[in-house]
Amino acid sequence: MSPVFPEAIGAAPQPSIDSTDGTQSRPGWRAAALCALRERDPLAKADAVGTLHAEVLDAASRGAAYWDAARTLVAPADLPGRPARPELVEPRSLQRRSMSTPQGRVVLLHALAHIEFNAINLALDAVWRFANLPDAFYADWLRVAAEEAYHFSLLRQRLADYGHVYGDFPAHNGLWEMCERTSGDVLARMALVPRVLEARGLDASPPIRARLKQAGDDESAAILDIILRDEVGHVRIGNHWFRYLCDARGLDPHAAWLTLAAQYNAPRMRGPFNFEARRSAGFDQAELDTLAAQDAAAASESAAPNGTEEK
Ligand SMILES: [Fe+2]
Ligand SMILES: [Fe+2]
Repeated sequence: MSPVFPEAIGAAPQPSIDSTDGTQSRPGWRAAALCALRERDPLAKADAVGTLHAEVLDAASRGAAYWDAARTLVAPADLPGRPARPELVEPRSLQRRSMSTPQGRVVLLHALAHIEFNAINLALDAVWRFANLPDAFYADWLRVAAEEAYHFSLLRQRLADYGHVYGDFPAHNGLWEMCERTSGDVLARMALVPRVLEARGLDASPPIRARLKQAGDDESAAILDIILRDEVGHVRIGNHWFRYLCDARGLDPHAAWLTLAAQYNAPRMRGPFNFEARRSAGFDQAELDTLAAQDAAAASESAAPNGTEEK
């Protein structure tokens, strides 16, 4: 297997110089993840992630690891690498169409492919950006990136079945914007990306799957099954590292979550929730109760005249 290092996938950082003796040291896997993140072509990005993940697994089987956790890498200006299309627009300008028509299903499949493309970038960003974490943190998020690349490839193929390619429809940039907002604190990243954005996917998946089935699109529904199965694992990884970081900082996870959600303006959570999947993903009962209470409060606010709470 050929090693995946920055020079092997055509992007920037040069081998670093060890400041103590002036010798060249091997660029680590976090630098390779950054190069994959900068890659603009979706297929080349997915290939780079798959090759890097295979290399990591191969090295792990020999007890080797090259994460270079202690190194602080500098963010380049061109993040994330993405193709010229899709055009990025405001979320409210995106069309919603009925899934009973092929055109409606294509728009949906394209939106899902865009989520998965962004999810590759989000996972790679967790790998390269945050220094001084355990090797298992980096291995977990690279595994997530590889699974997101697989999800993207499934949806890309399904789009092709419908005669379309990724980039044919506009999309929004909300996922990457949350990634940027939390770039200064790994605890905020874990709190808001996997535990909010990816967890919302757990809630959204069953009704979308049901409508695809109802429309007779069994192949797309089967892709949703694979994605939901894997996404439970991604949210579980997010919960694990969120709690690990809370422990390390002496924080209560429940209180820390509420503080971070307010500080970073987390999207308000509305039901229905997939409590079974959320439980499998490691949310505890108190967290699920908080979600249900927030949803009930939001529902009562929107039902009250002039948006005020009923007394
Ligand atoms: Fe995914
Ligand atoms: Fe995911």
